[in-house]
Amino acid sequence: MDVLLGAQWGDEGKGKVVDVIAPRYEVIARFQGGPNAGHTLLFEGHKHVLHTIPSGVFREGTVNLVGNGVVVDPVIFLKEVKSLEAAGVDVRAVLMISRRAHLILPTHRALDAASEADKGKQKIGSTLKGIGPTYMDKTGRNGLRVGDLERADLKDRYAALVRKHERLLSLYDQPGAAKESEEEWLDAVQQLRAFRTVDCEHYLDQALRAGKRVLAEGAQGTLLDIDFGTYPFVTSSSTISAGACTGLGVAPNRIGSVTGIFKAYCTRVGSGPFPTELEDATGEVIRKAGSEFGSTTGRPRRCGWLDLPALRYAVMVNGITELAMMKADVLNGMGTIQLCTHYRIGGATVDRMPYDITSGVEPVYMDMPGWSSASSDGDLPVELQRYIDTIENAVGVPITLVSLGPDRTETILRHAERVL
Ligand code: IMP
Repeated sequence: MDVLLGAQWGDEGKGKVVDVIAPRYEVIARFQGGPNAGHTLLFEGHKHVLHTIPSGVFREGTVNLVGNGVVVDPVIFLKEVKSLEAAGVDVRAVLMISRRAHLILPTHRALDAASEADKGKQKIGSTLKGIGPTYMDKTGRNGLRVGDLERADLKDRYAALVRKHERLLSLYDQPGAAKESEEEWLDAVQQLRAFRTVDCEHYLDQALRAGKRVLAEGAQGTLLDIDFGTYPFVTSSSTISAGACTGLGVAPNRIGSVTGIFKAYCTRVGSGPFPTELEDATGEVIRKAGSEFGSTTGRPRRCGWLDLPALRYAVMVNGITELAMMKADVLNGMGTIQLCTHYRIGGATVDRMPYDITSGVEPVYMDMPGWSSASSDGDLPVELQRYIDTIENAVGVPITLVSLGPDRTETILRHAERVL
């Protein structure tokens, strides 16, 4: 099983790469996160945004699996299915959901909003999809799972969990905050019963034994990982490669290549530290050129230069074997590009990610000449080639794919001897 994941703070362009390389795989499996994700794919002039459904759904002959590590909101899931069906995709035929995946309830969403409001200035900047409270119920051993839809006492279990949530919502002075969404949710749950469910650990074991190629698709990014991200400004799941094992029930010795996706610059949406952030006109230029607005929430993304200590960290904790660099075309015409090679912390120059980057971390930059234009039609400009070489040397991993536009076709493959 190969793994593909985000090496930054999410929104790296994972959906496009999965779509491009999907023909090499028989199964594409999402292993964590939920509708907080927004994987954007563009082809034949149409834009598609996927939240819960794996990005292999547009490729014929690919099985798409929602793993046990994913949290599913039945209402959002059905909306996604309907929009794919309207685009002519026979989703039901190619999709399976793990019985062990947890369900997001309307009260989880209400608790997410109440908790964020209570945090005031310290808020995480959550997408408010109920992700944190759902994973809390999972680890707290209170959650409802997709497999529970088969149980006769589902309604009682649902009522017991809502009672608990209501007690918590009362503490936030928000009792009944999710009442009006309840009917829609219960209706969506009924409809969810018609989808194919599976014990994904057994399914994948059989698939791998039969020699099928499986790609584990991550959501969010390494720096949003619950353990290794910029805690507490993180999401609530394991976004790193180890999460592909726990989120799908596949043993570590079955992992082959690990592809890290990163942008030629950095973005972050929501709160939290961001050492190379550009709070100036250059940041604005990148935001505009890269259409850096959240695909799930529409929020403007914070933009900054590429951060090599952070990328090296991602390579280390994930065991990344190859990298895909996205949106290099966004930096077309930038003049000088700054590349953060080190951090200065308390007078010392370091090249590794410290425990805390909230304050006192100053990026050390290397100036690099920019390129005027880069497209997939011709050779890469020498300046971009030099940028790529510098990154490869600094992190010790080859960049096997360079994306120069949102469409499937605007992609250059490098190092043909490598897997990707
Ligand atoms: P949550 O996962 O919705 O609770 O959000 C926690 C943090 O992760 C917030 O800063 C979000 O903006 C960020 N986040 C969650 N999902 C994504 C994503 O798919 N892309 C980028 N940031 C995300």
